[in-house]
Amino acid sequence: MPDQSNNGAQLLSLTRAARLVGVTRGALQKKIKKGELETFEGMVKPEDLLRAYPDTQLDNSGELERFTHIKDDAFAHRVREVLLPGPEVLAERLSGLSKELAKTRMQVGRYKTITDWLYDKFSEHERSGGQDIRNIMGPLKLWLRHELEKQSPNDYLQSYVVKESFLRLMTAHVRLVPGQREFFVEGSDTILDAALRAGISLRYGCSNGNCGLCKARVVSGKTLPMRHSDYAFSEAEKNQGYVLLCSHTAVNDLEIEAAEIGGAQDIPAQQIATRVKKIELLGDNMALLHLQTPRTKRLQFLAGQAVTLETANGAEADYPVASCPCDDRNLQFHVQRLPGNRLADYVFKKLKPGDIVSLVGPKGEFKLGEESPRSLIFLAHGTGFAPIKSLIEHAMARDVAESLHLYWLSDDGGHYLNNLCRSWTDALDNFQYTSLTAGAAKSDLALKQLTKDHPDLSGFDIYAAGPEAFLTSVNKYLRDNKFPDNQLITSRVD
Ligand code: FES
Repeated sequence: MPDQSNNGAQLLSLTRAARLVGVTRGALQKKIKKGELETFEGMVKPEDLLRAYPDTQLDNSGELERFTHIKDDAFAHRVREVLLPGPEVLAERLSGLSKELAKTRMQVGRYKTITDWLYDKFSEHERSGGQDIRNIMGPLKLWLRHELEKQSPNDYLQSYVVKESFLRLMTAHVRLVPGQREFFVEGSDTILDAALRAGISLRYGCSNGNCGLCKARVVSGKTLPMRHSDYAFSEAEKNQGYVLLCSHTAVNDLEIEAAEIGGAQDIPAQQIATRVKKIELLGDNMALLHLQTPRTKRLQFLAGQAVTLETANGAEADYPVASCPCDDRNLQFHVQRLPGNRLADYVFKKLKPGDIVSLVGPKGEFKLGEESPRSLIFLAHGTGFAPIKSLIEHAMARDVAESLHLYWLSDDGGHYLNNLCRSWTDALDNFQYTSLTAGAAKSDLALKQLTKDHPDLSGFDIYAAGPEAFLTSVNKYLRDNKFPDNQLITSRVD
């Protein structure tokens, strides 16, 4: 199932097209919006793609590589562990490509026989016909010979075909049906892991082949089990082609029917004993706490949600997860030392790598509106940056927003991950970062800057996280400026 056909022309999905020319989907969408690239029901023609990117070297995917690097950071370097598919998968893909090559060779041979025959016929008519026939057959023969001897039209087109074939050897493309969601399975990843990495929230539970919650029907294509599973499918399910997404990888391009998470209500409450992987001090009073779940009990959550943490001294507190659901095993939290916060105190004074921290959750409705076509603005105040970071990383994984602009307002020295935000700006041409410092962290500073940068806010969704007073100002300011209520999503973080 490489790509859909439309009136015989092979079309590429946006995800595949972006990967071929080495840009992000957001960059492609920008071109489409400007009218520089035509689409047919969300798909593009290879020749239009090449026209839109005439200078792109297909063997040099600069922007995409930088983007992938950023995503790797978000996924705690998990991606680098897997690059090559397993031998069995590679052999299957090579066999598929070889069959296509054999078929194409046979077609080319047949077309050559037909053109030779045509040339002979033209010559025959030229010899036996009158002057009128010779006047027609002569130019026809010349044209035919000229067309057949013409050099390959374009080296760039050849590079495109080579890269497309290589991409199909190294990755498998998955489309969820019905709908347009799509992603690539790389290396020996399971289909579930690949979907999570692409920011697609499929329904799952144990991630371990036991609960059956991730079962999905394979409509077309072939999968391969990656681990043993005791889950018992019914005979009907077996006959209909059901597999466990957490236990199978894609051998070739797939279409699958899989259940997606509709919202926070679809995620069960979970209780997990996590281990401290690392504690990074980001200043005198700020710590980045890295927790890792057991391999067989990962945290299913939506970007922007929070959990309750409990340390060995019996202290507990709610914290937004500051990392992306694309890595559901390695979780990050921004812990600020504040008077009276026993958990933060314990983190700074006693907690060490290897210790257990209990986690219960997820909770909260602060999440990205997946279906919104609008660009995104993020307003963070202080540690409100934690859930905003999760949203931004998720938006990057989804790669559908045309542009993202982060405003981070904090007291002097409070932008504890400034370098990370700057690295996003350097890597992505659709990401802007504005850090605002005010002695008393005044919210009107951010709001004035916001309307100065974006005089017309109607094309944006705005996500704001921070203390109550900040959110009240944001709400009031945007309401006074007639900003639609349903385009503002807020989360209180003190
Ligand atoms: S998530 Fe439980 S079987 Fe796949």
